[in-house]
Amino acid sequence: MSKKVYIETYGCQMNVADSEVVVSILSEAGYEPTDNIKEAGLILINTCSIRDNAEQRIWGRLTAISYLKKQNKDLKIGIIGCMAERLKEKLIETDQLVDIVVGPDAYRELPLLVAEAESGHKAVNVLLSREETYSDISPVRMDKNGVSSFVSIMRGCNNMCAYCVVPYVRGAERSRNPESILKEVKELFAHGYREVTLLGQNVDSYKWEGNKVNMGFHDLLEKVALVNPLLRVRFSTSHPKDISDELLHTIARHENICKHIHLPAQSGSNPILKLMNREYSREGYMERVSAIRTIIPECSLSTDMITGFCTETDEDHKESLSLMEWGGFDFAYMFKYSERPGTKAARKYKDDVPENIKSARLSEMISLQNKISAKSKKKDIGMVFVVLVEGFSKRSGEFLSGRTSQNKVVVFPSGNYQRGEYVKVLIEKCTSATLIGKSI
Ligand code: SAH
Ligand code: SF4
Ligand code: F3S
Repeated sequence: MSKKVYIETYGCQMNVADSEVVVSILSEAGYEPTDNIKEAGLILINTCSIRDNAEQRIWGRLTAISYLKKQNKDLKIGIIGCMAERLKEKLIETDQLVDIVVGPDAYRELPLLVAEAESGHKAVNVLLSREETYSDISPVRMDKNGVSSFVSIMRGCNNMCAYCVVPYVRGAERSRNPESILKEVKELFAHGYREVTLLGQNVDSYKWEGNKVNMGFHDLLEKVALVNPLLRVRFSTSHPKDISDELLHTIARHENICKHIHLPAQSGSNPILKLMNREYSREGYMERVSAIRTIIPECSLSTDMITGFCTETDEDHKESLSLMEWGGFDFAYMFKYSERPGTKAARKYKDDVPENIKSARLSEMISLQNKISAKSKKKDIGMVFVVLVEGFSKRSGEFLSGRTSQNKVVVFPSGNYQRGEYVKVLIEKCTSATLIGKSI
């Protein structure tokens, strides 16, 4: 069997970007990527540890693919990414199917580790690094549309949100050399890509101090926007304590910087925000949202919320709901608090909100957000948006699908338009997830 690698990716956009780096490193070592798990000689699972259910899914997946090892005794299975970093050797002790365990900063070692596994030994490298950004590696693009791509601009996180496992599994924050970022973006554009999303856990703290340039995130964003006016630029994630007016003005100044900000609030209650160590208050968060609304009036906003964090009362929960109502978010990701071993919350606070209350609060929050999202979509009916076409709609080949600058999905009759084109669309109606219109 030729050397074929199948990679499966879980978790956030950062993992999607990392998988492309991993495939690039393995391609150099003679591995060819495949979409067919059955013909692979090496299966890699790029994992997430953010909540317990994310890890449970991976364990379930390992069980589901165990039959492949019975069919092919030379098959090697590797666990990479955040869960590899969190559990280390324990992964191999728990599941004998696992041959290779590699953390997010050790991907350059993969060819060596795979060779070690092929010679019959279990291979582990979970060293975190203060410098690694994989800046010189050209990711092998695995997206299906050839229109939009992720570009990692930094790694790790220096914030210590009490609930969060990311700093432990991704290490200290470091920024990537801006020259290598710009080079990657220019190459993407030359290959027909029309949208990049710059990725970091807290992009507002991007910082590069070189001998020629000193750069903050707003400088970098501007430089990326100037690569070509036909290239849309997005970014994620912003942190309410760090998002600056300078950045907001940069977004407002450039047509091609998308008018959408993902600004996780996590909670609307001051005592909870303090316990979470988010370093902003409800009022501070509202002030930043007001600044966004003033400086970029057409900007859409999305957020992340956690329900049932330690000590959360009904009153705290109501504060979260009222913040959501006030913010009028176009979209929100909502989660039940899941205690992660080793975090500050796990060490110092009791996970004291009963599961049934967490669930009830989450359902209440989701139904509120559904109403808010519906309102935000209804407001768009009758308006004209420039849509970047990503491909055919999932439902029908007679419709194209793309997104507005505000990151809302739009579906419209295909006509003669192609993916990668910008089309002006008049919105006529909407469903719960999509705007529907016609090109004008
Ligand atoms: N760096 C980003 C997001 C990282 S994780 C930020 O700072 O916002 C994505 C989301 O997962 C977080 O915004 C948070 O809402 C959620 N999350 C993180 N840890 C969690 C936990 N232990 N339980 C439940 N949700 C969690
Ligand atoms: Fe986690 Fe907070 Fe860092 Fe986001 S900013 S990754 S929530 S520690
Ligand atoms: Fe998960 Fe790691 Fe991302 S824990 S959310 S894959 S940084």
